Amino acid sequence: MAKLLNLHRAARLVGVTRGALQKKIQNGELDSFDGMVTLDELHRAYPHAALEDNTVLKQIEQIKDSAFSRRIMDRTLPDKEVLAARLHDLSKELVESKALLNHVQGMLSGISSLLDEWAKQPGDRASAAASLQTWLHEQRLQAPPPADASALMIRDNFLRVISAQIKALPSGSDFFVEGNDTILEAALRAGIPLAYGCSSGSCGACKARVLSGEIKQVRSHDYVMPPAQQALGYALMCSCTAVSDLVLEADVAQSPRDLPTQQLSGEVRALEQPTDEVAVIHIKTPPRDRLRFLAGQRAVLTLGGSLAEELPIASCPCEDRHLEFHVRRLHGNHFSDFVFEQLKAGDSVSIRGPSGNFVLDTASSRPILFIAFCTGFAPIKSLMEHAMALDQAETIHLLWIATQDSGLYLPGLARAWADALDNFTYTPILVGGDLDATASRQEGVVVNSVGPVLSTISTLMRADIYIAGPSLAVSAMTKHLLRLGVPEARIFADHEG
Ligand code: FES
Repeated sequence: MAKLLNLHRAARLVGVTRGALQKKIQNGELDSFDGMVTLDELHRAYPHAALEDNTVLKQIEQIKDSAFSRRIMDRTLPDKEVLAARLHDLSKELVESKALLNHVQGMLSGISSLLDEWAKQPGDRASAAASLQTWLHEQRLQAPPPADASALMIRDNFLRVISAQIKALPSGSDFFVEGNDTILEAALRAGIPLAYGCSSGSCGACKARVLSGEIKQVRSHDYVMPPAQQALGYALMCSCTAVSDLVLEADVAQSPRDLPTQQLSGEVRALEQPTDEVAVIHIKTPPRDRLRFLAGQRAVLTLGGSLAEELPIASCPCEDRHLEFHVRRLHGNHFSDFVFEQLKAGDSVSIRGPSGNFVLDTASSRPILFIAFCTGFAPIKSLMEHAMALDQAETIHLLWIATQDSGLYLPGLARAWADALDNFTYTPILVGGDLDATASRQEGVVVNSVGPVLSTISTLMRADIYIAGPSLAVSAMTKHLLRLGVPEARIFADHEG
């Protein structure tokens, strides 16, 4: 029977994004069966996918690694025991396939001899046997050459040795575990919000039930699993890696409602001022205290003991204990003044959150258009990193709008995404005036300065559109899109202040 691969695995195999594969299916260029594709179909759609043809994957990995720079950096090969177990499974499969092949070849030889005998006998039976024999001979000659799709099979086997695929139920999310990553690390890296608390083996919040497959403990833990749960196959995702492909019964946050409000402390690790108008605060939380949130959500940051402000979180949930916030210079605003004049590395802060519903529609594989006005880039950055991790959008377009160059305060990052991702386009737009000006002024800015760019985006009418920034600018953009005929359900907005 033809080998079926799910889209995640197939995309990885031919070195394209899941979004690109989905587009081929929608265009009728690739046949799929219940969300799965065969190796032959995959080879037909990507005839030039060679073993080394993994440029896109490499680019995405580079981006993820630089975005998730604070993650464990020793992700190389799995440890020897895990490798040995995976090779053992593959060898077993190979032996079974060979045995089956030998059996089938024996059967065919038997049938062939039988037909030869029948063909020597007089009557109708002989002519039927002769034509069957001819057919059998032709079929044998038509056996596929060992090249072509088998190159993909070799690559698939190699990927199975260095990584394992995990499916989490009932959400249906799937991701790969590579190197010595724990299952939790791999899930967060892939943008899957698996339940967790301390991420260091103490709280038990990352408990999940292994329905099939084999795991191995790779990190120590203090949490004592109740024997009854142990017997049912529960394990801590923050301390185990996957030896083989797994099916898990695991708690994955599907919406902001699934996440509790948390209060934790942290320390300012670095404070950057990429321009005079914006400060970027990097915060690290203690080893046993992590904020669980969805990309695009907000948290209340309290500085200097009492100055509190609710801000979008600019980092991705996959960045472990690292949280990033972008603060706009607002003279006379106590919080902003404190950040620009007094805050320094080493200061303690407290964080309460998460809040807000400005999160990705993870069920969608539509094109994505991100529109950021100035520091509206903060939640958009978090969503962008999440979208990259999920790797399922057909295309991603970022419009970053500011009144002056300094408003596009991290241009290097946006350009790096554009350089590295084939399906990503970055368009910086400078507009005159003030993004906090009156509503009618904002509408003029949107129609005159952004409108012409929007009219060049061919996917506009079927895209998911995420807009963030000063409230008046976001409202003006939303109104303009609705006027253009973009369905309201596809517009997601985050209003600053
Ligand atoms: S997250 Fe606390 S034990 Fe795993």
